[in-house]
Amino acid sequence: MNYPLIRTALPGPKAKALIERDKLHVSSSYTRDYPLVAHKGRGILVEDPDGNVFLDMAAGIAVTSTGHCHPKIVAAIKRQASQLIHMSGTDFYYQPQVELAEQLSKLAPGKLTKKVFFGNSGAEAVEAAMKLSRYYTRRMQFISFLGAFHGRTFGAMSLTASKVIQKRSYGPLVPGVTHVPYAYCYRCPYGKEVDTCDTECVCFIREILFSKTVPPEEVAAIFVEPIQGEGGYVVPPEKFHKALRKLTSEFDILFVADEVQSGMGRTGKMFAIEHFGVVPDIIALAKGIASGMPLGVIIAPGKIMRWEPGAHASTFGGNPISCAAAVETINLLTDKLIQNAARIGDYMLERLRQMQEKHPLIGDVRGKGLMIGVEMVMDRETKERARKERGAIVDTCFRKGLLMLGCGDCSVRFCPPLVITKPQAERALELFEEALSEVEKKFGYA
Ligand SMILES: Cc1ncc(COP(=O)(O)O)c(C=O)c1O
Repeated sequence: MNYPLIRTALPGPKAKALIERDKLHVSSSYTRDYPLVAHKGRGILVEDPDGNVFLDMAAGIAVTSTGHCHPKIVAAIKRQASQLIHMSGTDFYYQPQVELAEQLSKLAPGKLTKKVFFGNSGAEAVEAAMKLSRYYTRRMQFISFLGAFHGRTFGAMSLTASKVIQKRSYGPLVPGVTHVPYAYCYRCPYGKEVDTCDTECVCFIREILFSKTVPPEEVAAIFVEPIQGEGGYVVPPEKFHKALRKLTSEFDILFVADEVQSGMGRTGKMFAIEHFGVVPDIIALAKGIASGMPLGVIIAPGKIMRWEPGAHASTFGGNPISCAAAVETINLLTDKLIQNAARIGDYMLERLRQMQEKHPLIGDVRGKGLMIGVEMVMDRETKERARKERGAIVDTCFRKGLLMLGCGDCSVRFCPPLVITKPQAERALELFEEALSEVEKKFGYA
């Protein structure tokens, strides 16, 4: 394993020059945790313009599911680009959109025949799910979870409850959204233990919310990430989603699974909700669906997605090249990448749990497949959040050639491309542990 390969101080001279130009003309709203300039990518490797090569545990925020520039994806994109780049699937017909809709409706859980709506991003998929939920139920309220991230457009932002900076100065938001605690068992808001709890987080909706502030018959949908992503890669217990499904069915509320981050094989199943034995009413997908081409979709049974022509559409949504990339992505995922995600994910989880025994900063290790979160705490008893230390770990990893992302208040996430091999995973974990040890030393934990 010859990678990563760091040849210059970071950022190198060419990277530095580009960063200076970026500062002048690119929006200041972007958060750049460390100065990576990506020039080329292949598999799980990313090269900067100075020839430094990094191991990528971030996949462009869980997007490049089949790896950077997979030859089959590149070929599919080239093929489609030379044939038809755009025709607006909302006005006309073309094959890649129909083919992808057929594939997705077969893959989505549940026996009912499904339909697919096409947009360009995760937020657009969530917006579409909000609109469809109101349209179908003729109700106006929504419930979503503290810690949730559903996107940054007005509707999606209104459901989001991840970081206050994402909402500050933007009000008023879309009315009718209530946030409730998620099943974040490591920090259970009800002080319960996962094995013995009565899913108090769902009981709260039924017993408190529905009797005091929100009439259940006015709720169109509950939006939930099967595994919370930006909120910290938080994996709830199976009984949480089961109880939520029971509750939503009882009150004819739609269960919307936001699989924008957790979907497309990342967790070792095509959709993360399948781990919980629950069939949602609507699934929102984006990120990994087209290996990096912009695409967001919702899938719902035909009896729910029965809005009339003109009720919702998007000029670019379901772009032929994005759809062609998605069809090829699904072929690669179902061929062997989902299995690989499960296998390598199990290995990484086990290794990280071993690391936890040696490293006081690690409070919790959790995940499914290649959606793995490691939460850093200053003290395992008090679980005080190790925010600065988390930042230092991510930065130290970068200096060593490992691309990581934070999530939640004090966690790091491993969401590499699903093509990762065992030796690559081993090397990434080695570097992560080195960075962890250095930070522990620096902050006086070791
Ligand atoms: C669960 C979830 N939903 C929605 C979104 C929004 O997706 P996009 O950034 O493509 O709009 C994200 C993005 O991180 C996400 O993780």
